[in-house]
Amino acid sequence: MKKDNFGNLFDEIRIGNVLLRNRIVMPPMVMCYAGPEGEINEQVIAHYEVIAKGGIGLAIVEASYVHSSGKGFESEIAVDRDGLMPRLHMLTNAVKAWGAAIAIQLYHGGIQAHVDQPVGPSAIGRKVFPPLRTPRELTTDEVEKMVENFANAALRAKMSGFDMVEVHGTHGYLIAEFLSPLTNKRTDKYGADRALFATEIVRNIKEKCGSDFPVIFRLAANEFEEGGITLDYAKEVAKKLEAAGVDAFDVTGGTYDTADHIIPPIYYDKQGYFFREASEIKKTVNVPVISGGMLADPEIANDAVGNGLVDLVFIGRQLIADPEWPRKVREGRIAEIRPCIACEQCIERIFFQEPVNCSVNPLKSYEYRYLSEEHIPKAKNPKKVLIVGGGLTGLEAARVASLRGHNVVLFEESNDLGGVLRYVLNEKMKWRIKRLIEWYGCVLCNQDIEVKINTKVDADIIQKENPDVVILATGSDPLIPKIPGVENAVLAEDVLSGKTQPGKSVIIIGGGLVGCELAIKLSNERHNVTIIEALPQIAMGEPILSRMGIIKLLDKNGVRVLTCAPVVEIHKSGVETVNNLGIRSLFKADTIIISVGRKAKVETDLMKTSKKVARDVYLIGDAKQPRKIIDAIREGFWTGVSI
Ligand SMILES: Cc1cc2nc3c(=O)[nH]c(=O)nc-3n(C[C@H](O)[C@H](O)[C@H](O)COP(=O)(O)O)c2cc1C
Ligand code: SF4
Repeated sequence: MKKDNFGNLFDEIRIGNVLLRNRIVMPPMVMCYAGPEGEINEQVIAHYEVIAKGGIGLAIVEASYVHSSGKGFESEIAVDRDGLMPRLHMLTNAVKAWGAAIAIQLYHGGIQAHVDQPVGPSAIGRKVFPPLRTPRELTTDEVEKMVENFANAALRAKMSGFDMVEVHGTHGYLIAEFLSPLTNKRTDKYGADRALFATEIVRNIKEKCGSDFPVIFRLAANEFEEGGITLDYAKEVAKKLEAAGVDAFDVTGGTYDTADHIIPPIYYDKQGYFFREASEIKKTVNVPVISGGMLADPEIANDAVGNGLVDLVFIGRQLIADPEWPRKVREGRIAEIRPCIACEQCIERIFFQEPVNCSVNPLKSYEYRYLSEEHIPKAKNPKKVLIVGGGLTGLEAARVASLRGHNVVLFEESNDLGGVLRYVLNEKMKWRIKRLIEWYGCVLCNQDIEVKINTKVDADIIQKENPDVVILATGSDPLIPKIPGVENAVLAEDVLSGKTQPGKSVIIIGGGLVGCELAIKLSNERHNVTIIEALPQIAMGEPILSRMGIIKLLDKNGVRVLTCAPVVEIHKSGVETVNNLGIRSLFKADTIIISVGRKAKVETDLMKTSKKVARDVYLIGDAKQPRKIIDAIREGFWTGVSI
C-alpha cells in the first residue's frame, strides 16, 4: 500500500464513538447560502459536498441558530423548527456520501444577533460592532428555556443524520457572553457561575440525545481584551465542560471587538494561530482537541498533530480557496494547492448580509451550478485565444479557457507574471500572494499553456498569431494627481520595486491599501513615515478585519496618519495641505511618495488591430477599470467560461 504524505494528518481518530477518517476538520463558516427561513437548499448542499469530496475527515456545518432571537445573518442556516429536518437530512446524506463525518454548530448570536432586539446575559453592547439596539438582559426563566432550545436543536440534528453537534461557545456570541466577565454582570445563578449556562446546555443535550451522541464545544480560550476571558479561566471551564460530557474541544478566541483575532488578516502571519492556547487546554482535558487559524502549510499542520499540540486541525479559509487541500496534501501535490491570501473578502460579505464568495476561487457560491471545474462544459468549437497581459485577470482567463479546450497563448510585456502585484511579491508579509502567482505558473505549465514573457504585443504579432479571440488584460498605470510640484514626488511602485531608495523621513500621499502597506513596510525598515489622506479615513473600502489589522500595525510602528488633509502643493522637502477653513500647513520629509490609485491602461491601437483580426475581443480586468483581486480573477474566470 502506498504511504500517505503528511501521515499524522491522515491517521484515523474518534470523537466520542464516531470514527473520523483523518484529522482534518472544516470549521464552521457561515456562508449565507440558506433560504430566507434558514432552510437548506441546493447551494448549501453543493458547498458542503465539494468540501467533503476534497477529503476532510469532519465537516462542521456553520453557525445555525437554535432560536429566532439568535439569528445572526440573513440566509443563515436554522435548526430551530422540526419542519427543517427533511432538508437537513439531504445535507447530511450528501456529505456522508463522500466519506466525511458531519456535525452542525449550534448557535445563538446573543448581543451580536441581527434582530430588532438583541438579548444577552446583561444589557451591555460592544464598541467595534455595536448591536442594533442596547441588548435586553434575559430573565433567569428565559435562560433556562434557552438551554432547552440548544438541546432541542441538537436532537433535531441527531434525527437529521448529523454524527455530532458543536456548541458555539466563543467569538462573543451568547454562550461566550455568559462566560466572559465583560458581558456577564448577572446577579442570579448564571452570574454566580458564569460557566453554568454552557454546562447546562451540554448536560441537556446529552440527556435528550443520549450520552453516546458526541458533543464538541468551541471554546473561547482568549478574548484578547482587558477583563475578558483568559486562558486560565478557559482551562477551568474546559474541566467543567468535560465533566458535563463534552467529547472534544475546538479552541479559538476573540470577540467582535477583537474580531481581527477570530479571522486574522494577511498581516498577522501566524499559522496555527490558536495552537498555544489549544495545547494548554489539551494538557487540562482527556478528550481530543481541535484547533488551527491561518493554516495553509501541511508541514505545520502535520507537525502540530505529530508533536501532540492538538489532535485535529481545522482548515477554514484555505478550504474555501481550495476544497481539494486534503486530497492534494495526501498525494503530495503541494504546488497544486490554490492558496488563500487571507484577504478577508469572504467574511466581509457576511457582515453585509451577502453570500460568501472568494477572491481566488471564483466557483465559490456557484458550486450548485458547477460542482467542480470539471463540470464546466468544454467548448464545442475550440478556438485560438490570444491573451495580452500576465496579471491575475489574464492568468485566470488563460487557465479557464485552456481547461475548456481552447488553444491559448499568453503574452506578457515584462519578464515576470503577476502584473502590478509583482512589486510586492518579495515582501515578507505577502508570501501568500507570491504563492498565488506561483500557483498560476504551475497550473499554466501543467496545462501546457504557451506563455511568452518579455514580449510586447503589436499588430505584427496579432496578425501572425491570427487568433479567433483576443483578450486584452493589459492592466493599469499609476494615477498621477494634478498637484503643483508633483514632479518632486516619486511613485509608490518605484519604491516597492527598489528603483528609488527613500530617505529617513517619508510622506506618503494617499492612505489607500497600497499607501498603508507601504507605510508598514517602510516603518518596519525604520523610516519615519507620515500618511496624508484627503478622505476622513485610511484604507477605505477594504474589509473591516484587514483595516483593523492595518490600523493596529501602523499604530504599533508609530506611523503618523493625517486624514481630511488634501495636498495642495508638493515641494522638494515637503508637502502643503489645506484644512476646511482654508488654512495651509507644511509637512517636511526627505522623500514624498505618491500612492493615490491607478488608472486603466487603454491600448487603443491594440484594440483596433485585434478587432480587425479576431472575431471576438474582450477588454477585462484593471484595463477596463482598476479594482480588487477578487474582481480581477472573477472577470478572468467568467471570460474564460464564456468564450
Ligand atoms: C466566512 C467565514 C464565516 C465564519 N463563520 C463562523 C461560524 O459560523 N462559526 C464559527 O465558530 N466560526 C466562524 N468563522 C471562523 C472560522 O471557523 C475559523 O475559526 C477562522 O476563519 C480561522 O481559521 P482560518 O484562518 O483557517 O480560516 C468564520 C470564518 C469565515 C472566514
Ligand atoms: S476570500 Fe480571501 S480570505 Fe477568504 S478564503 Fe478567499 S482568499 Fe481566503
